[in-house]
Amino acid sequence: MFASRTNWNLAENRLTQALAEFRRSGRHILDLTLSNPTEAGFTYDSLAILFALQNATSLHYEPASQGLLSAREAVASYHDEKGIRLSPGNLFLTTSTSEAYSWLLRLLCNHCDEVLVPTPSYPLFDFLADINDVRLVRYPLLYDHGWQIDFASLEKTITPRTRAVIVVHPNNPTGHYAKLKEQAQLSAICAEHNLALIADEVFLDFSLQGTPANSFASQASALTFVLNGISKLCGLPQMKSSWVALFGPEKLKDEARQRLEVIADSYLSMSAPIQHALPAFLATRAQFQAQLLSRVRANLAYLDSEIARQKACSRLIFDAGWNVVLRVPAARSDEEFAVNLLERQGVFVHPGHFYDFSQEGFLVLGLIAPEKEFAEGVNRLLSCFFNPAWR
Ligand SMILES: Cc1ncc(COP(=O)(O)O)c(C=O)c1O
Repeated sequence: MFASRTNWNLAENRLTQALAEFRRSGRHILDLTLSNPTEAGFTYDSLAILFALQNATSLHYEPASQGLLSAREAVASYHDEKGIRLSPGNLFLTTSTSEAYSWLLRLLCNHCDEVLVPTPSYPLFDFLADINDVRLVRYPLLYDHGWQIDFASLEKTITPRTRAVIVVHPNNPTGHYAKLKEQAQLSAICAEHNLALIADEVFLDFSLQGTPANSFASQASALTFVLNGISKLCGLPQMKSSWVALFGPEKLKDEARQRLEVIADSYLSMSAPIQHALPAFLATRAQFQAQLLSRVRANLAYLDSEIARQKACSRLIFDAGWNVVLRVPAARSDEEFAVNLLERQGVFVHPGHFYDFSQEGFLVLGLIAPEKEFAEGVNRLLSCFFNPAWR
């Protein structure tokens, strides 16, 4: 009865089973995978957010395939503040970055065409590719005192079926920005091979040093789609509001815009209240980002101070975002480590393979958990390395 593209292995993995069992036991979990900002104890400007949802103009339906102009103008102003010129005409509003990916894959790819994605990276790509009948081909990121794109491998993966290259900037979970030189090189490779570049910049503003890297918008020698949204930017994932911004050579951009317009018009997926509220939501981002970055920096400082007291575990360098990658002894699989850690210590972390790390020995921790929880979780995690039974 069902399409073969949905023949996923839906069996729970060991970690998910262990988590469900732990929850049933009623014991408290120290969740170091927390990524939902609305559950992390931040203070939101609730009055402004809720007031924005009461706009009486929402009682009228104005179908607009790219999204209401007032909402797109607010998104264009966000870019303007970064020195990026973006006409609202080159913006499409979507209900999520995932929806934006789907529209772009439908725009660019025929059945079984290929899209290049970084590895390690964000686990949702596999499902988005399956749903859209696209084949993912992975290009490696290499770690050597920081992450970089393995361009030699990337170029080898390009075939006549390749349609696009995805770059996550900064990447999730590695948290590294593509350097300016890498941005230019990636853009040039895409232009040379007639490929589109899809740059996911949902974490762009969350720079540890306080100065976000340049957007791929400023390097667009190829047709470039920059994705962003308020899930991360304003910590409002429940409001379901994201966008695709088009950059690059005018002719390609025009054609992409006209075709995307038909896709967008077929769904008209954004709700009126959210579109009317988007300018007000965007105005809350500075308050949210300041809290989030202060949390991330405090948790990272604590983690670093504790890591410095032992030798078994280290952390990888990163520039931005909400996650950190730990290097741990690969005496057992990362999944086994994560299951044991949960069952024995009540601490939940993600094994590296969840993000497609090619080797064992990596754990991924979120950095937005409340500071006390995070510190206790880190203490229990690192205590494992002093316990001979764990080595
Ligand atoms: C790299 C990356 N892109 C996109 C998203 C999802 O964004 P949205 O909520 O807009 O679909 C996430 C969520 O964690 C992410 O990590």
